[in-house]
Amino acid sequence: MVKIGFIGCGGIARLHMSNLAKIENVEIVAHTDVDIRKAEETARLYGGRAYSSYRDMLNREDLDAVYVCTPPFAHGFEVEVVEKGIHLFVEKPVAMKIDVAKEVLKAIQRYGVINSAGYMLRYLETTERMRRMASESTIGMVLGFYIDNFWLPPNHWVLDKDKSGGQLVEHTTHVFDLARYVVGEIDTIYAELDNILLRDVPGVTMENEAVVLMRFKNRAIGMIAAIWASKDTHKFVRLEVYTKDYVLEYIGRDLKVYRDGYIEEYRAKLDPYFEEDRAFIEAVKKGSMEPIKCTYEDGMKTLAATIAANVAYTEKRIVKL
Ligand SMILES: NC(=O)c1ccc[n+]([C@@H]2O[C@H](COP(=O)([O-])OP(=O)(O)OC[C@H]3O[C@@H](n4cnc5c(N)ncnc54)[C@H](O)[C@@H]3O)[C@@H](O)[C@H]2O)c1
Repeated sequence: MVKIGFIGCGGIARLHMSNLAKIENVEIVAHTDVDIRKAEETARLYGGRAYSSYRDMLNREDLDAVYVCTPPFAHGFEVEVVEKGIHLFVEKPVAMKIDVAKEVLKAIQRYGVINSAGYMLRYLETTERMRRMASESTIGMVLGFYIDNFWLPPNHWVLDKDKSGGQLVEHTTHVFDLARYVVGEIDTIYAELDNILLRDVPGVTMENEAVVLMRFKNRAIGMIAAIWASKDTHKFVRLEVYTKDYVLEYIGRDLKVYRDGYIEEYRAKLDPYFEEDRAFIEAVKKGSMEPIKCTYEDGMKTLAATIAANVAYTEKRIVKL
C-alpha cells in the first residue's frame, strides 16, 4: 500500500485525490492545510486524518509520498519532507523563488527520493507525438499562446504578484514548460508585460498581458503570448512549431501536422492529470523515475525561464539563462 499525505487541500489537491482514489493500493492517510477546515473536508471525503501543521503530519504519520498543492509563495518545507525519505509530488510552479527550489532540489538529490512536478500536459499522447516529430526535423520557429478567461474572486492569491509570482510564473508556465519539453532549453529571453485591461480591478498586482521573445539553445526562435482577461469564448492553449518538414499545431488536446499538400489530425484520448498521478504512483511502487515525464528539476528549469522573463521585463534587457 502506498500511503500518501497532502500539504495544501484546495482545488488541485482535490483533483489529485479523486485520481488517487481510483488507483489500486493507494491510501490517502493525511491532509494538511493552514485552513484546517479544508483538510477536514478532504479527510471526510477521502479518509485519513486532518492537520493544520505539516510538521505534525510528518511526525505522526508513516508516509511513503507527499503531494504538495500549496500556492507558489508557500514552498520550501519540501526539504523536511524529503529529509525523511518521503517521495515528493509538487504542483506547478514548484516555487516562486529560484533559491527555494534549488534547496529542495539539493535535498532531492541527496536523499534520492522519487519526484515529480505537476506539468500534466507532458502526459498527453499529442504532446509526445509533437515532441518526437519536432526532434526529427529542424525547428525554425515556435509560437506559444495561453489565452484565458480566468476570473477569480477579489483578494484571491493568484491576483497578488507577491503571492503568485505573476502571470508568467503561475499561469503561462504551462506553455513555457511545453515549449521546453518540445523544443529544448531556452538560451536568451526578453519580455514585455503590462496590465492594461485589468488595471481598474482592485487587488490585481499581477500582469494581464504578456509577450515573451526567446532564442533556444538549438537556435530556434520563439514567442509566447498570454492574456488572462480574454473574452469568454476566446480561450486556448496553443503551440505552433515550424520545422523544415512540417508545421505542428497543438491546440488543447488536438494536434495537426501540416505537410505540403495534406493535413494529419490527432486527438489525445488520455486524461493528463490521471496519467501524471498514475505515473507518480508507479514510480514510487517501482522505486524508479522511469515513468515520470516531468521531474522536480524540470519544473525548476521552467520556473527559472518564467522568472528570467520577469527580470527581462523589469530590467528592460535580454536575460541569458
Ligand atoms: N497543474 C494544473 O493544471 C494546476 C491547476 C490548478 C492549480 N495548480 C497549482 O496548484 C497550486 C495550488 O492551486 P489551487 O488552485 O489548488 O489553490 P487553492 O487556493 O484552491 O488551494 C491552495 C490550498 O493551500 C493551502 N495553503 C496555503 N499555504 C499553505 C501552507 N503553507 N501549508 C499548507 N497549506 C497551505 C490553502 O489554504 C489552500 O487550501 C498552485 O501552485 C497552482 O498553480 C495547478
